[in-house]
Amino acid sequence: MMHRPLIEGRTLNYLRSGQGFFEGTLGQIEREATAAGVPVIPAETAHFMQTLFYGIQPEQVLEVGTAIGFSAAVMLAAMGPTGHVTTIDRFDVMREHAQTNFKRLGITNQVTLMAGEAAEILPTLTGPYDVIFLDGAKAKYLDFLPDCLRLLQPHGYLLIDDIFQGGTIFNSPKTIKHRNKAIHRKLNQLLDHVFRAPNLQASLLPLGDGLLMITPR
Ligand SMILES: C[S@@+](CC[C@H](N)C(=O)[O-])C[C@H]1O[C@@H](n2cnc3c(N)ncnc32)[C@H](O)[C@@H]1O
Repeated sequence: MMHRPLIEGRTLNYLRSGQGFFEGTLGQIEREATAAGVPVIPAETAHFMQTLFYGIQPEQVLEVGTAIGFSAAVMLAAMGPTGHVTTIDRFDVMREHAQTNFKRLGITNQVTLMAGEAAEILPTLTGPYDVIFLDGAKAKYLDFLPDCLRLLQPHGYLLIDDIFQGGTIFNSPKTIKHRNKAIHRKLNQLLDHVFRAPNLQASLLPLGDGLLMITPR
């Protein structure tokens, strides 16, 4: 959630603009998303992902939560010409918009856009993927974890966005609004699990609304 950063003032300003802006069509798509209120990854998360991707050069990436395709395009921009992103969204309007944006960027042949509920699609995939990015269905991240670990390369990364929930994630459940209770409970269960699991190495990064980074041990 780019509108609820935990870091304020000049530091946030630098994270959002000091690291540089996306240029050309990608920058245009970022501005269109902001103007339309589509919750795409914030600049600091996008820059982190590109830095990671330039370093590890993933070939196959899986994403849950395409929206208008901004994060998929950010990832592909830092992948080689043979890189491929498989991305899932259940919302037709978002997928149509994403398809248009992939055409604008000339990356249609590097994207597989899957329609439907991630909980139904993930078990059908075989992978493997070098990176998996979860950015939708926050209450289901914990349920997705077994499939994600099955699909991930042994030295791959699982990145999970929007963990902090605007800084409310560690508040007492009693203070959480009814509509957010399931997300609050399941995200806390996810954190308890990944930081105790002997087969996982995880780190919580204060980028945007919190990015959880997991790799198998
Ligand atoms: C935060 S937006 C994704 C933003 C995108 N990753 C970006 O940064 O450009 C979340 C998207 O996830 C999709 N979504 C939410 N729950 C889902 C589910 N259970 N299965 C598939 N897609 C889902 C929504 O339709 C929405 O488009």
